[in-house]
Amino acid sequence: MKRVGSSVSFLVSIEGFDGVGKTTQAKLLHNNLTKRSIKSLIVREPGGTTLAEKIREELNQNPSLTSTTELLLFEVARSDLVENVMMPNLSDGIIVVTDRYIDSTLAYQGFGRGLNLSKVKQLNNISSLGLLPEITFLLDMNVEDALRRVSNRNEDPEEKQITKFEKETVEFHQRVRNGFLEIAKNNKERIIILDSTLGVEELSKIILEKVIEKIEN
Ligand code: TMP
Repeated sequence: MKRVGSSVSFLVSIEGFDGVGKTTQAKLLHNNLTKRSIKSLIVREPGGTTLAEKIREELNQNPSLTSTTELLLFEVARSDLVENVMMPNLSDGIIVVTDRYIDSTLAYQGFGRGLNLSKVKQLNNISSLGLLPEITFLLDMNVEDALRRVSNRNEDPEEKQITKFEKETVEFHQRVRNGFLEIAKNNKERIIILDSTLGVEELSKIILEKVIEKIEN
């Protein structure tokens, strides 16, 4: 948490496996803060810088990446985003809302792909420069229902293309979900688990209230 003059800034991350509605909630939080004249910036991982967006394309399109290469690419993308975008904005007193962050790497590459958890944590620590979110919202629901949402969403030509991870098996997503829940159990002071089957408006209201609480305390 940083205090710049009268404004307070910190990082908020929104996490969960594919199809739980993170992106919608990240955008709503950003809009709701703007409506209250609270300065915020929304970013996504991987992405948010020219290099990180190129890495995102590569991660989505290259079918022959090994799990370790994939892990390192996510870390490089994060390193670029943290140092060039997150840190400077936080220093300017702006709240940064990120759609995914370090917990995604531990859940997907650690629990999902089966890479060594302590090595993933070490790399997360390097790429994030130790920057932890002040608060993380983990959106959670049943895996089958979330994946059904993903395939319905992709029937809509206006929606984004299905990603490599969204094509993974139900078992993969189950491991990722269990990973996220385990991470939340070990980081109770930071991570709030929310039932993502609640209505979009209800969820966004809860998220906004918790963030405002942090700003005021
Ligand atoms: P999304 O922006 O739609 O969530 O797509 C990003 C995909 O990348 C998503 O399927 C989760 C995956 N991912 C990882 O596997 N590890 C990571 O560290 C991050 C940030 C994302």
